[in-house]
Amino acid sequence: MSENKRASFGGKLSVILVAAGSAIGLGAIWRFPYIAGENGGAAFVLVFLLSVLVVGIPAMLAEFAIGRYTRKNAVGAFRSLSKRWSWLGYGGVLCALFISGYYYLIAGWSLEYLVNSATGQLYSSSLSFTEQFKEFQASWRPLIYGVIFILMTYFIVSRGVEKGIEKASKIMMPLLFVILIVMAVRVAFMPGASEGYRFFLSCDFAQAFKPETIMMAIGQAFFSLSVGMGCMVTYSSYFKRNNNLVNTSLNVSLLTLMVSVLAGLVIFPAVFSAGIEPSEGPSLVFVTLPEIFNGMPLAPLWSTIFFVLVMLASLTSTISFHEVLTAYFAEEFKLSRRAAAITTTAISVVLSLLTFSKLFGIDYLDIFDKLTANVMMPLGAMFTCVFAAWFLERGFMKNELTNQNTINRYVAPVIVFMLKYITPLLIFYIFVMNLI
Ligand code: PFF
Repeated sequence: MSENKRASFGGKLSVILVAAGSAIGLGAIWRFPYIAGENGGAAFVLVFLLSVLVVGIPAMLAEFAIGRYTRKNAVGAFRSLSKRWSWLGYGGVLCALFISGYYYLIAGWSLEYLVNSATGQLYSSSLSFTEQFKEFQASWRPLIYGVIFILMTYFIVSRGVEKGIEKASKIMMPLLFVILIVMAVRVAFMPGASEGYRFFLSCDFAQAFKPETIMMAIGQAFFSLSVGMGCMVTYSSYFKRNNNLVNTSLNVSLLTLMVSVLAGLVIFPAVFSAGIEPSEGPSLVFVTLPEIFNGMPLAPLWSTIFFVLVMLASLTSTISFHEVLTAYFAEEFKLSRRAAAITTTAISVVLSLLTFSKLFGIDYLDIFDKLTANVMMPLGAMFTCVFAAWFLERGFMKNELTNQNTINRYVAPVIVFMLKYITPLLIFYIFVMNLI
């Protein structure tokens, strides 16, 4: 597609909201608070911040530069820069497929809980919250809601880059912030909330700076920033030439960090206020939180608001990996956008069905999750940095970061230095340590 015909996001704010929409999702709202609480609290937040700065932002900038320069889908982008490196684009597409295999299903859970909160059924049932969650998991409803989530994503993506993705992000992201802040304030007034702040924010440096914890922080940074799988390459292919890449990546990272910390400030005070042990993953959001809402006046209302939040955050993320695949099918197979989006949707349904049915007794959810977050995304990010800093024309990264020497003239050399010598080596080191 020529530059003139290719769609692009509007102004500076749109670009930030769209990219932050991809970044902020289940990773920030669900995964981060628990990992932080268990791994040193505020000290973990510091390690996460360092990971974002040293690893996440440089890798995101390499993706931004490649995407905006080539204005192509993930595969096309790498191939047009170097045929020998096109496998990196295919790796991204494959990673998007694997993520599609489980993310929609989990996102679908929030839909069921949203509906059951709004109708009050969640709080009037004779079953306990644990039993309700088990009963839900044993039924067909996770698949049905997962498919509904895929269709919602399709609806947005098929409307196009500007009218679909950009518009949806501009509405949903501010709403997400408002809801999160309202919830944080509401929770602060619960009796015993201070215990939760103490748990979440207690500083345990010894725990936070252990090698395993650093690995977890780096893994969380990739997953949470949507880096290492061509997603930011695809999104930045719709950026305008005069967009300030450094500024955008800083803003996106800051927003992601803020939401992650805010989510912790909602969840832990609530957990402690209800006198419940902080627990892991699914049960934290789908069992513990309903339990807490149950003790509050207007339980169904707060519960509905919370699950709207989870749904919005998930939806702005699902549209981003749907777009990685849609752009790939559209451009590489010369399909219309609609046909490409339908293809992606159909594949996502099939993969979700596979995960849901646990065909041959295999836990695909766990495999897809571990494979993407612990292997494919770190390797993808590492090679993207190596490619951008070592194999592209000298000056490529600097030109892109400075918009041809007009902005960011002092930070660009620092980032290029990190991309060359620090970020890939650090990822490699952590990756090997993780294997051992
Ligand atoms: N960043 C998203 C989250 O934290 O939930 C997940 C994600 C979205 C990963 C898009 C990768 C991606 F391409």
